[in-house]
Amino acid sequence: MNIHVEKSTETLNASHLTFEVESKRLLNEVSITISPGELLGVIGPNGAGKTTLLRLMAGILKPKSGSVLIDGASISDMSVKEVAKKVALISQVPGFTFGFTCFEIVMMGRYPFMGRLQVESTLDKKIALGAMRATDTEQFMDRTMATLSGGERQRVFLARALSQQPRVMLLDEPTANLDISHQLKLFQIVKGLTSSGMSAIAAIHDISLAARYCDKLLILNRGSMLAFGTPKDVLTYENIALAFGVEVNVYTDSVINSLALSVIRQIPQANN
Ligand SMILES: Nc1ncnc2c1ncn2[C@@H]1O[C@H](COP(=O)(O)OP(=O)(O)OP(=O)(O)O)[C@@H](O)[C@H]1O
Ligand SMILES: [Mg+2]
Repeated sequence: MNIHVEKSTETLNASHLTFEVESKRLLNEVSITISPGELLGVIGPNGAGKTTLLRLMAGILKPKSGSVLIDGASISDMSVKEVAKKVALISQVPGFTFGFTCFEIVMMGRYPFMGRLQVESTLDKKIALGAMRATDTEQFMDRTMATLSGGERQRVFLARALSQQPRVMLLDEPTANLDISHQLKLFQIVKGLTSSGMSAIAAIHDISLAARYCDKLLILNRGSMLAFGTPKDVLTYENIALAFGVEVNVYTDSVINSLALSVIRQIPQANN
């Protein structure tokens, strides 16, 4: 007898994710799906829950309820190492790394693939070097992280995530410290990866940049989903006014053929 198993077409499925700290609800029933090759942008005001959502998806935080499935498997059933083989997170506030050289940091992306006491293979080194080349960080290889500028450091963290060769890349405000050239370069790198099947989620404050590069957008507001869909569906005057308390003009920039947004003014008596 042939048993037909339906193969999931979703890379990532977050279902009814809820997270609380000391009975304060930081994330409320968030459900999203991402297909192979999609880039999802998460936008929302400071404190909306963007970082919390990414940390839940990376398995760093455990939800109060709800689940995160990657390729159909729940990350709550996986070890930290197993999750790290599938998910790479570039944090908004990275941990202490100052004493390490940039090459050492990028090589850390290979650790989930190495056995205990195993030294890096030639292939691991090749992958790490390729990641440094792609992010324009080869030049910093032997320097310690302490000697790098904020944007340079951020590119090294991107290289570490690239060397993990993840199924899903989570980026928490990846362009915050980058100059406009490196902002474009970052999105081109991420889009290059998604075009070969990786999925990505990025928390982004620059809404025009998010509209330009993301396939889907999620607006989070006070821990809840305000809107989820294509940039065209999500980026409405009403949604932005509700989430941010500002009036905006959403228009199509015909030069780059993308939605863009200009801020008009704060709405008086807005709660934000
Ligand atoms: N351990 C904690 N205890 C109490 N409150 C917390 C804790 N962690 C996060 N919060 C609160 O949860 C809310 C969501 O935080 P989160 O970092 O997810 O926001 P964010 O959307 O990433 O904001 P930003 O745009 O400023 O990075 C914030 O109000 C934050 O103060
Ligand atoms: Mg954040």
